Amino acid sequence: MKIFVTRNIPDRGINMLKEKGYGVEVSPHDRVLTRDELIQMGKGSDAVLSQLTDKIDGSVVDGWGDSVKIIANYAVGYDNLNVKEIAERGVVMTNTPDVLTETVAEHTFALMLAIAHRIAESDKFSRAGKYHGWEPELLLGTDVSHKTLGVIGLGRIGSRVAHHAVKGFDMNVIYHDLKRNDAFEKEFNAVYKEKLEDLLSEADFISIHVPLLPTTRHLINAERLKLMKPTAYLINTSRGPIVDETALRDALKTGVIKGAAIDVWENEPNLTPGLAELDNIVITPHTASATEETRQRMGEVAAKNIIEALEGRTPPNLVKV
Ligand code: GLV
Ligand code: GLV
Repeated sequence: MKIFVTRNIPDRGINMLKEKGYGVEVSPHDRVLTRDELIQMGKGSDAVLSQLTDKIDGSVVDGWGDSVKIIANYAVGYDNLNVKEIAERGVVMTNTPDVLTETVAEHTFALMLAIAHRIAESDKFSRAGKYHGWEPELLLGTDVSHKTLGVIGLGRIGSRVAHHAVKGFDMNVIYHDLKRNDAFEKEFNAVYKEKLEDLLSEADFISIHVPLLPTTRHLINAERLKLMKPTAYLINTSRGPIVDETALRDALKTGVIKGAAIDVWENEPNLTPGLAELDNIVITPHTASATEETRQRMGEVAAKNIIEALEGRTPPNLVKV
């Protein structure tokens, strides 16, 4: 069996595949492969372990020939896969949910606290030698505790963020999702907002946890940013294109909202011009799941999915088409 790994990942997952006696071929390039490279290197593979930066559609699968049985995406999100075209070719797809939930929820909170307490800005200020002694009004931020958190998308990660908000910071939680979750509402005293607009206008902090779909692209646009309170903050750890980044930049610049913190960008790795110059945004480079532990676990999950599929069983994390 040949397993093609499109970019090197932490070793445990790779070792699991090797221990099965599979031929594991890891891309020698420490970068995103071009479409042609992806096709050439994947030819004749039984399984492909892909990254969220690999755009895979039917034509890529056709280029591989018909040996590929499974694409195991090393991510929970899989908007890089054209699931319809891939499924039509009889190839199954898997992702890596659950193992990264805790880490992404932590990162979401790290971003929320960082922007509210102006951590990045204060760090920059301190290093620049601008601190000349304590001042009553130096770098005043905003409290997170007892505020209202609006969660958009109540999946695993959104629920975990809500948990931290309620249990750790006594926040009130409101949420918007396609469906209501009674158990969640009871447990966290949370309030469902059927209309996204209502959540936007009531929340002090808004955190996005929906997948990127045609229906969620630019879910947060100029018009919706205007519905937010001028004192509110937007946090995004889902996918960049869910927020219209140009509209976000303008809203931050003109005080339509108070601040933002983003781990995902609309056009990674390029930031919308002007965004990096603003002090009221904290930016991380799509590293919300990037802890040693979680990136190892994601590799193990991807490897497990491949092993199950190649041994003729149903892989645990099948992507539903
Ligand atoms: C990261 O963005 C992931 O989807 O795992
Ligand atoms: C992702 O795993 C989610 O359900 O939020």
